[in-house]
Amino acid sequence: MIDLHIRPERPADAASIAALLYAAFAGNQHSNHTEHQIVERLRAGGRLAVSLAALLPDGRLVGHVAFSKVTIDGRDEDWYGLGPLAVLPQAQGQGVGAALVEAGLSVLRRKGARGCVVLGEPAYYCRFGFAQDAGLRYPGPPPEYFMALPFAGPAPQGVVAYDGAFA
Ligand SMILES: CC(C)(COP(=O)(O)OP(=O)(O)OC[C@H]1O[C@@H](n2cnc3c(N)ncnc32)[C@H](O)[C@@H]1OP(=O)(O)O)[C@@H](O)C(=O)NCCC(=O)NCCS
Repeated sequence: MIDLHIRPERPADAASIAALLYAAFAGNQHSNHTEHQIVERLRAGGRLAVSLAALLPDGRLVGHVAFSKVTIDGRDEDWYGLGPLAVLPQAQGQGVGAALVEAGLSVLRRKGARGCVVLGEPAYYCRFGFAQDAGLRYPGPPPEYFMALPFAGPAPQGVVAYDGAFA
């Protein structure tokens, strides 16, 4: 296991986070390579609810995860969306992504959030407890790629919308 320090982002991290997002998604065929702009828009709007950086002992940033509020049928139900999640290509496959997701979900739980959704690979996110929920819908992608993790009680039902920064 890689020696890793995970902490909330700091103002001085912004440029490194943008570069990391760009590098991590460069080879992703499902990406339109705007993830760094999404995070910048969320940050600028004060809507980056959780933003964690993963650093090596020498201070190099190797991973980042963001969470922002989602709405369900237009309502604020204290649910969040995970993403983007990114790990530098040379640091992938060593548990950095998993450590960031677990740390971010813990922060959300401590904040009293009621649940989290993610749009991504079921084979990756099921290990954290995310699962498809027929009552929580996200129009567009195949439904198996949209997953939910309730923290308290059953998930609300309805159509999920991400922050406008993702548009
Ligand atoms: C996806 C990503 C964040 C995973 O981070 P990571 O630090 O490499 O992941 P971990 O080391 O925690 O986990 C590695 C495991 O995830 C699996 N995995 C990684 N990417 C995967 C993917 N896209 N689909 C399915 N499984 C994946 C690996 O096969 C490995 O499986 P194993 O534990 O059974 O061996 C990283 O590969 C990345 O930044 N990719 C480019 C950006 C991206 O696609 N982000 C996610 C958007 S949904």
